[in-house]
Amino acid sequence: MSISFELKLNEVAAQVEDALEGLLSPTARPGETRRPARLLAAMRHAALGGGKRLRPFLTIETAALFDVAPETAMRAACALEMIHCYSLVHDDLPAMDDDDLRRGRPTVHKAYDEATAILAGDSLLTYAFDILSDPATHDDPALRCQLVRHLALAAGLGGMAGGQSLDLEAERSEKPLGFDEILEMQAMKTGALLQNAVEAGALLGQASVAQTRRLSRFGALIGAAFQIADDLLDAKGDAATLGKRAGKDAARNKATLVSMLGVDAAEQRCDSLIDEAVGALQGLELGSRTDVLIEAARFVAGRRS
Ligand code: IPE
Ligand code: IPE
Ligand code: MG
Ligand code: MG
Ligand code: MG
Repeated sequence: MSISFELKLNEVAAQVEDALEGLLSPTARPGETRRPARLLAAMRHAALGGGKRLRPFLTIETAALFDVAPETAMRAACALEMIHCYSLVHDDLPAMDDDDLRRGRPTVHKAYDEATAILAGDSLLTYAFDILSDPATHDDPALRCQLVRHLALAAGLGGMAGGQSLDLEAERSEKPLGFDEILEMQAMKTGALLQNAVEAGALLGQASVAQTRRLSRFGALIGAAFQIADDLLDAKGDAATLGKRAGKDAARNKATLVSMLGVDAAEQRCDSLIDEAVGALQGLELGSRTDVLIEAARFVAGRRS
């Protein structure tokens, strides 16, 4: 990863942090009665002070291909990050992956309690759609509606939540998932939100149909690579570097390509997905404008946490 890419990712992450901090302030907004302190604290624990912020980065940098300013894409980017943070809070619950460490800190149900973690997830999920549908996100109501619908599809039954359900079913089943079933489950639980990150940027940038098709493919490919990289890090990494426990997937009988193919073949597959993703961008014919997304794709495969 180049130093300039790392600086850019950190710079955007700091802007995302500021924007999330503003959205999660203690002051109730018009239409809200009040913000209960303990629930808000749990939401802040989940959403602030950590994370790579790759999804908002992808939204902002995809929109920037079409000259959309980061400030204009920021609220949509934060909405997606809130959905991602909610998915992590619920993923860590005892009823799901039962984890005690996330982003180098206790998981929300450990720092607070299970009921608060469930409600913090619910509230982040709901807030995301409040943000997207608010006129402050974009002047055009039709575009806001498209952002809402795309994110709803990516996050729900046929996307992330559906994929999480398949992941848990597989863990508890006698019959292991086949190769194509693992691909589908991972495309849903992880790919959908990463693909949505890029698609939201394309919507904000009013990309053409052909450009959107390529960007969407890029998002799906890096999404698939992202979960393989996550599963490789689980197999090879350590909690101090990852900020979350390692070795959990094997212990929990998770269906992953690492367990099915082995580390070497999974690494090769991850790299070739990234090559394909870069190819999808090159077809956009936007020249060096896409360099930052190419670096983001390489970062997905090369990251250490
Ligand atoms: C972890 O996502 C969960 C998966 C989808 C594999 P990230 O690795 O993006 O987590 P943060 O946001 O950087 O903590
Ligand atoms: C998580 O996959 C996917 C989500 C939708 C949160 P994992 O269960 O592998 O994510 P980590 O390893 O706990 O971050
Ligand atoms: Mg999980
Ligand atoms: Mg997990
Ligand atoms: Mg994992």
